Amino acid sequence: MTGDDPLEESESGEPTTAEPRTDGGERSAGSRSSSELRSDGGAAGADDVALDPWGSSSVSDYRKLFEEFGIEEFDEILEEVPNPHYLMRRGVIFGHRDYRPVAEALQNDEPAAVLSGFMPTGDPHIGHKLVFDEIIWHQQQGADAYALIADLEANSARGMSWAEIDDHARDYLLSLLALGFDPEEGELYRQSTNRELQDLAFELGADANFSEFQAIYGFDGETDVSHMQSVVTQMADILYPQLEEPKPTVIPVGPDQDPHVRLARDLAERMRFFKVSEAYASFELEPEERALVAEFYADLEPADFDDDQLRCVHVAEAIEETPLSELAVDADTLSSVLTKLEEAGMEPIRPRTRFFDRRATDEAFDALIDAVEGEKRVYENHVDAFDLDRAAAEELAREVEVDNGGYGFQPPSSIYHRFMTGLTGGKMSSSIPASHISLLDDPEDGYDKVKAATTGGRETAEEQREKGGKADECPVYELYAYLLSGDDDEFAKRVYDECVDGERLCGDCKEQAAQLMKEFLEDHQEKREEVEDLLEDADIELESPRRR
Ligand code: TRP
Ligand code: SF4
Repeated sequence: MTGDDPLEESESGEPTTAEPRTDGGERSAGSRSSSELRSDGGAAGADDVALDPWGSSSVSDYRKLFEEFGIEEFDEILEEVPNPHYLMRRGVIFGHRDYRPVAEALQNDEPAAVLSGFMPTGDPHIGHKLVFDEIIWHQQQGADAYALIADLEANSARGMSWAEIDDHARDYLLSLLALGFDPEEGELYRQSTNRELQDLAFELGADANFSEFQAIYGFDGETDVSHMQSVVTQMADILYPQLEEPKPTVIPVGPDQDPHVRLARDLAERMRFFKVSEAYASFELEPEERALVAEFYADLEPADFDDDQLRCVHVAEAIEETPLSELAVDADTLSSVLTKLEEAGMEPIRPRTRFFDRRATDEAFDALIDAVEGEKRVYENHVDAFDLDRAAAEELAREVEVDNGGYGFQPPSSIYHRFMTGLTGGKMSSSIPASHISLLDDPEDGYDKVKAATTGGRETAEEQREKGGKADECPVYELYAYLLSGDDDEFAKRVYDECVDGERLCGDCKEQAAQLMKEFLEDHQEKREEVEDLLEDADIELESPRRR
């Protein structure tokens, strides 16, 4: 029994206390609207969201992540995912950045990769299991799978000794293998001993500077340099699966890691040799200006003009004749686009794709010029292609880059899972043993922790029968949805329905959950033993040569 649990029930059996939640309203994942197993996108919360990779990672309002940070809702692409994992179906994976290319690659049996990293600061727990499962699922769908031990980060950002790191690393890896990661197909590594990774980190570091770290992570004059090095190392981790060839790559993480993902996407872009864009004439247009010109270009008939040629001035005139209120741009954009068009005067309007030379070598730029098929025009810093559409141009740019010694990185994608609520309410924290279940917990302790958990139950059994339980706010229901129901949606749904209908009371419900948890831990720990040899044979150094 976890005697230090402040919210422990005084009696087992029927709910005797309201067991109020202490975190001010973080929603359980897997909470559903009516009939479907899916989340509501997060309850409103009072707190602001701050995404801090080394701070406290709780999110009180998932909607803000969409609105303020531009994370997209996973639900919107769920249908495009072949054979979606239950964490996706139940809304536990709630958000993503640019996951579509990965889903498409899986769908079409094209190359794709998955990578995530683990800071070995404590025991692996059921929160880490979500990420293990996400990696393994992608591996089973055909992606190249990578899992890394973030030992440099654990040492620099968390002050862990190398001996502690080695112990924990082993435990993470055993659980990962026990859950089904195939180390022969996939790759395991630790940051500190991966030379190729460090080389990539060094290179990426040349494209990032301190001001940027300051803005993104709040680093200041006191931040030690090793911590900064661990950041460029993580950037390298995220791009590492693409060293051999560019491919859609997903990084499954908690939303606290989103700043890393954004920076990595940025750096991936900065490393590219060419930037592909669309243009209508020799000059550059901003995206809004381009949309406006595109609209008029589509509407105007060349046959209405001299020698059947639509020219910049014609578009300028047509735009000028249209009241501003009918244009989808503001006055500044309008005046700037008109100036550009008028200055170009009689230049014909002709859509084209444009390749900008960003950081290509001379050879690569020449190779690109040669490779562009059909009509083209070569300028000092760019090439315009008249017979290539945007997608073909992107592909060509990447091909030429890769053939000429560049990486051709695709911007990495990410998927985000909800944080689990602590069993004692509040956030699940490795430093509060009763709040979480470690994958190494004695199965009996796991049983006890579930029995002692906070619930979404009512004051009395009578009230619960009448009003139903609050499954959406219940850490025990969360256990069912995130873990105990496994792939069985019917079962998770039944628990939910029975709870909110008042047919299920917390005592029995917890007994069932506790029993399932015990069985899960027994089974998992047995598997951990079975994969010991697999780990010994795996290509990863389990002992750090370092001291301190
Ligand atoms: N920073 C991550 C954490 O705090 C660990 C990590 C290191 C990681 N490199 C990574 C996660 C690459 C995803 C991808 O847990
Ligand atoms: Fe109680 Fe179970 Fe409902 Fe949670 S899910 S409130 S433990 S009946």
